[in-house]
Amino acid sequence: MKKRAVYPGSFDPLTNGHMDIIQRAAKIVDELYVGVLNNSAKNSLFSLDERVSMLKEETAGIPNVVVDSFDGLLVDYMRRIDAQIIIRGLRAISDYEYEIQIAQTNHKVSPEVETVFLTTNLQYSYLSSTIVKEFASYGGDISNFVPERLVERIYAKYGVKKS
Ligand code: PNS
Repeated sequence: MKKRAVYPGSFDPLTNGHMDIIQRAAKIVDELYVGVLNNSAKNSLFSLDERVSMLKEETAGIPNVVVDSFDGLLVDYMRRIDAQIIIRGLRAISDYEYEIQIAQTNHKVSPEVETVFLTTNLQYSYLSSTIVKEFASYGGDISNFVPERLVERIYAKYGVKKS
Protein backbone atom coordinates (compact mmCIF):
# COMPACT_ATOMS: atom_id res chain seq x y z
CA MET A 1 0.00 0.00 0.00
CA LYS A 2 1.25 3.45 -0.90
CA LYS A 3 2.00 5.70 2.05
CA ARG A 4 0.13 8.92 1.40
CA ALA A 5 0.68 11.74 3.89
CA VAL A 6 -0.73 15.22 4.31
CA TYR A 7 1.24 18.20 5.51
CA PRO A 8 -1.57 20.58 6.50
CA GLY A 9 -1.25 24.24 7.32
CA SER A 10 -2.20 27.82 6.59
CA PHE A 11 1.06 28.63 4.77
CA ASP A 12 0.33 32.36 5.04
CA PRO A 13 3.00 32.80 3.79
CA LEU A 14 5.12 29.77 3.01
CA THR A 15 8.45 29.97 4.85
CA ASN A 16 11.83 28.26 4.55
CA GLY A 17 10.84 26.27 7.64
CA HIS A 18 7.80 24.85 5.78
CA MET A 19 9.97 24.09 2.74
CA ASP A 20 12.44 22.20 4.92
CA ILE A 21 9.64 20.02 6.32
CA ILE A 22 8.17 19.43 2.83
CA GLN A 23 11.54 18.36 1.41
CA ARG A 24 12.27 16.01 4.27
CA ALA A 25 8.76 14.54 4.52
CA ALA A 26 8.71 13.87 0.77
CA LYS A 27 11.70 11.58 1.28
CA ILE A 28 9.99 9.35 3.82
CA VAL A 29 6.54 8.88 2.29
CA ASP A 30 5.41 7.76 -1.16
CA GLU A 31 3.17 10.74 -1.78
CA LEU A 32 2.98 14.01 0.12
CA TYR A 33 -0.10 16.19 -0.15
CA VAL A 34 0.47 19.73 1.03
CA GLY A 35 -3.01 20.65 2.26
CA VAL A 36 -3.65 24.37 2.40
CA LEU A 37 -6.39 25.23 4.86
CA ASN A 38 -9.21 27.27 3.36
CA ASN A 39 -10.23 29.05 6.50
CA SER A 40 -12.51 31.91 5.61
CA ALA A 41 -12.81 32.99 9.25
CA LYS A 42 -9.07 33.48 9.50
CA ASN A 43 -7.87 36.80 8.20
CA SER A 44 -5.15 35.71 5.86
CA LEU A 45 -2.62 37.92 4.10
CA PHE A 46 -2.65 35.79 0.96
CA SER A 47 -5.79 34.34 -0.62
CA LEU A 48 -6.18 30.60 -0.86
CA ASP A 49 -5.36 30.71 -4.59
CA GLU A 50 -2.22 32.73 -3.93
CA ARG A 51 -1.03 30.34 -1.22
CA VAL A 52 -1.68 27.31 -3.41
CA SER A 53 0.11 28.82 -6.41
CA MET A 54 3.13 29.85 -4.30
CA LEU A 55 3.40 26.31 -2.98
CA LYS A 56 3.05 24.83 -6.47
CA GLU A 57 5.86 27.03 -7.78
CA GLU A 58 8.19 26.22 -4.92
CA THR A 59 7.55 22.46 -4.91
CA ALA A 60 7.53 21.99 -8.69
CA GLY A 61 10.87 20.17 -8.51
CA ILE A 62 9.70 17.53 -6.01
CA PRO A 63 7.94 14.82 -8.01
CA ASN A 64 5.94 13.16 -5.21
CA VAL A 65 4.45 16.39 -3.81
CA VAL A 66 0.87 17.39 -4.64
CA VAL A 67 -0.43 20.81 -3.58
CA ASP A 68 -4.10 20.86 -2.69
CA SER A 69 -6.52 22.77 -0.47
CA PHE A 70 -9.18 21.69 1.96
CA ASP A 71 -11.84 23.10 4.22
CA GLY A 72 -13.58 21.51 7.14
CA LEU A 73 -11.97 18.84 9.24
CA LEU A 74 -8.55 17.55 8.29
CA VAL A 75 -9.52 13.94 9.03
CA ASP A 76 -12.51 14.18 6.66
CA TYR A 77 -10.25 15.51 3.92
CA MET A 78 -7.82 12.67 4.57
CA ARG A 79 -10.54 10.11 4.21
CA ARG A 80 -11.53 11.66 0.87
CA ILE A 81 -8.00 11.43 -0.54
CA ASP A 82 -7.20 8.15 1.24
CA ALA A 83 -4.27 9.48 3.29
CA GLN A 84 -3.22 7.94 6.59
CA ILE A 85 -0.39 10.12 7.87
CA ILE A 86 -0.33 13.73 9.07
CA ILE A 87 3.03 15.48 8.98
CA ARG A 88 3.66 18.40 11.32
CA GLY A 89 6.83 20.27 12.19
CA LEU A 90 7.79 20.81 15.81
CA ARG A 91 9.97 23.84 16.43
CA ALA A 92 10.19 24.19 20.16
CA ILE A 93 8.53 22.94 23.31
CA SER A 94 6.02 25.77 22.97
CA ASP A 95 4.56 24.06 19.89
CA TYR A 96 4.10 20.80 21.73
CA GLU A 97 0.97 21.52 23.73
CA TYR A 98 -1.10 22.70 20.76
CA GLU A 99 0.22 20.00 18.44
CA ILE A 100 -0.40 17.16 20.88
CA GLN A 101 -4.00 18.29 21.36
CA ILE A 102 -4.68 18.25 17.62
CA ALA A 103 -2.85 14.94 17.13
CA GLN A 104 -4.69 13.24 19.99
CA THR A 105 -8.07 14.53 18.84
CA ASN A 106 -7.48 13.49 15.24
CA HIS A 107 -6.35 10.04 16.34
CA LYS A 108 -9.34 9.66 18.64
CA VAL A 109 -11.86 10.45 15.91
CA SER A 110 -9.91 8.59 13.20
CA PRO A 111 -7.81 5.82 14.79
CA GLU A 112 -6.30 4.90 11.42
CA VAL A 113 -4.66 8.33 11.21
CA GLU A 114 -1.17 8.76 12.65
CA THR A 115 0.60 12.07 13.17
CA VAL A 116 4.34 12.13 12.50
CA PHE A 117 6.31 15.06 13.88
CA LEU A 118 9.50 16.20 12.23
CA THR A 119 11.76 18.33 14.36
CA THR A 120 12.40 21.55 12.53
CA ASN A 121 15.92 22.15 11.35
CA LEU A 122 17.62 24.26 14.07
CA GLN A 123 18.27 26.92 11.47
CA TYR A 124 14.51 27.56 11.30
CA SER A 125 13.49 26.82 14.86
CA TYR A 126 12.59 30.47 15.49
CA LEU A 127 10.71 30.99 12.24
CA SER A 128 6.96 31.41 11.85
CA SER A 129 4.65 32.92 9.25
CA THR A 130 3.45 35.38 11.90
CA ILE A 131 6.97 36.64 12.57
CA VAL A 132 7.68 36.92 8.83
CA LYS A 133 4.54 39.06 8.39
CA GLU A 134 5.37 41.29 11.35
CA PHE A 135 8.93 41.78 10.14
CA ALA A 136 7.94 42.41 6.52
CA SER A 137 5.27 44.94 7.50
CA TYR A 138 8.02 47.16 8.92
CA GLY A 139 10.26 46.65 5.88
CA GLY A 140 12.59 44.25 7.71
CA ASP A 141 14.84 41.95 5.70
CA ILE A 142 12.97 38.66 5.18
CA SER A 143 15.28 37.24 2.50
CA ASN A 144 16.62 34.52 4.81
CA PHE A 145 13.16 33.49 5.98
CA VAL A 146 11.16 32.76 2.83
CA PRO A 147 11.89 31.40 -0.68
CA GLU A 148 13.51 34.08 -2.85
CA ARG A 149 10.58 34.41 -5.26
CA LEU A 150 8.21 35.28 -2.42
CA VAL A 151 10.13 38.17 -0.88
CA GLU A 152 8.77 40.90 -3.16
CA ARG A 153 5.26 39.43 -3.13
CA ILE A 154 5.15 39.67 0.64
CA TYR A 155 6.51 43.23 0.72
CA ALA A 156 3.95 44.21 -1.92
CA LYS A 157 1.12 43.23 0.42
CA TYR A 158 2.37 45.86 2.85
CA GLY A 159 3.23 48.45 0.23
CA VAL A 160 6.89 48.14 1.17
CA LYS A 161 9.26 49.10 -1.64
CA LYS A 162 12.78 47.64 -1.60
CA SER A 163 15.32 48.12 -4.36
O1 PNS B 1 -0.33 26.25 9.88
P1 PNS B 1 -1.34 26.12 10.99
O2 PNS B 1 -2.32 27.27 10.91
O3 PNS B 1 -0.70 25.94 12.33
O4 PNS B 1 -2.18 24.76 10.68
C1 PNS B 1 -3.24 24.35 11.52
C2 PNS B 1 -4.04 23.21 10.88
C3 PNS B 1 -4.43 23.56 9.45
C4 PNS B 1 -3.20 21.95 10.84
C5 PNS B 1 -5.29 22.94 11.76
O5 PNS B 1 -5.90 24.14 12.07
C6 PNS B 1 -6.33 22.05 11.07
O6 PNS B 1 -6.12 20.89 10.84
N1 PNS B 1 -7.49 22.67 10.73
C7 PNS B 1 -8.60 22.01 10.05
C8 PNS B 1 -9.75 21.73 11.03
C9 PNS B 1 -9.40 20.54 11.90
O7 PNS B 1 -9.42 19.40 11.46
N2 PNS B 1 -8.99 20.83 13.13
C10 PNS B 1 -8.50 19.85 14.07
C11 PNS B 1 -9.37 19.83 15.27
S1 PNS B 1 -8.56 19.25 16.65
